[in-house]
Amino acid sequence: MSKKSDKRVAVLTSGGDAPGMNACIRAIVIACEYYHYECVGYRHGYHGLLQQNHKVLHNADVHNLIQRGGTVLQSARCVEFKSAESGRLAAQNLDQLGVDALIIIGGDGSFRGAEHLSHYWQGQVIGIPGTIDNDISGTDATIGCYTAIETAVSSIDKVRDTADAFERIFLVEVMGRHSGFIALNAALASASDHVIVPELFVSEQASLDTMFAEINHRRDAHGSVSYIVVVAENVWPGGLPALTSALEARTSIDVRPVTLGHVQRGGSPVPQDRLLASKLGAHAIKAIKEGVSGVMIGEVNHQPVEVPLQALGEQHKPLQVFSVDTMHVLVNATNPSQP
Ligand code: ADP
Ligand code: F6P
Repeated sequence: MSKKSDKRVAVLTSGGDAPGMNACIRAIVIACEYYHYECVGYRHGYHGLLQQNHKVLHNADVHNLIQRGGTVLQSARCVEFKSAESGRLAAQNLDQLGVDALIIIGGDGSFRGAEHLSHYWQGQVIGIPGTIDNDISGTDATIGCYTAIETAVSSIDKVRDTADAFERIFLVEVMGRHSGFIALNAALASASDHVIVPELFVSEQASLDTMFAEINHRRDAHGSVSYIVVVAENVWPGGLPALTSALEARTSIDVRPVTLGHVQRGGSPVPQDRLLASKLGAHAIKAIKEGVSGVMIGEVNHQPVEVPLQALGEQHKPLQVFSVDTMHVLVNATNPSQP
């Protein structure tokens, strides 16, 4: 492939796909054209780099793309990319294609992959946070998290209709890997009665005691009522089946578990994700023009930020105290025994 422009920029999507990845690819392609750069898309994440599986992307390729879920470049979890041999092969392939800068849209695992690659490749490496989990430090939000919350909330709204009809307890499990961001925000926005998140989880016994007390207070005050618990995945030992049995045994009330699963990763991105994706994508190309490398482009307080990938490390992004406090007040406000 002969080079007809100042720079050749490559982009790939890696790890769990997220709604808005396409909007970001679109922004990158259009911004490349604006700066007279060529844009190449690698397919299937780091697999594409190892197999030299790529295609040139023009403005026409990204027409009518901003609203589409998934990723047109497809994604992958590429275990073999962790080896030194893969790092060297990827570097060789990028050089052979004449790539000057590589943009990785993905989560923290994908950024570790970017770091790994930078030990073998001299080109510019830029990360853009794309994951529904919003578990990456250094940026207020990650592309896809707003759509995942919207999907969870609209599902919980539907669950509430049937929960109210039978005055049952419902457990709704949401994604987030090891972060409670989706769970907490979905619980707040759907006016759920309780939330279980890894950041605040102490023990099964303490959680069961709290839920039992809340359910009893409500039933004493209002008669038989429904009770909706949003449960972040990977928190409760034994998952929803174990929590369902434990609550049924303790309350003698029908408990129904609902796992939302991968529907949270799909669908048309909401405007907040389209906006974030477009801004980060366009800013990434500006950063490339300025010679920046080894950073994640994020957004903090509505401003672009460039955070060294190395600084992200294994930091766990905490839940927003404001949201945690709000959940606490809104749950306890319906609990007459709480001060
Ligand atoms: P996410 O990016 O959504 O967190 P993963 O944790 O699955 O998803 O990571 C995506 C991909 O990033 C992995 O499949 C692998 O190809 C690459 N990756 C993750 N960790 C490393 C690492 N330590 N070294 C090299 N590549 C890695
Ligand atoms: O990181 C995104 C995510 O959807 C997590 O919320 C979830 O734990 C994981 O990916 C599921 O991964 P897979 O699609 O490989 O089952």
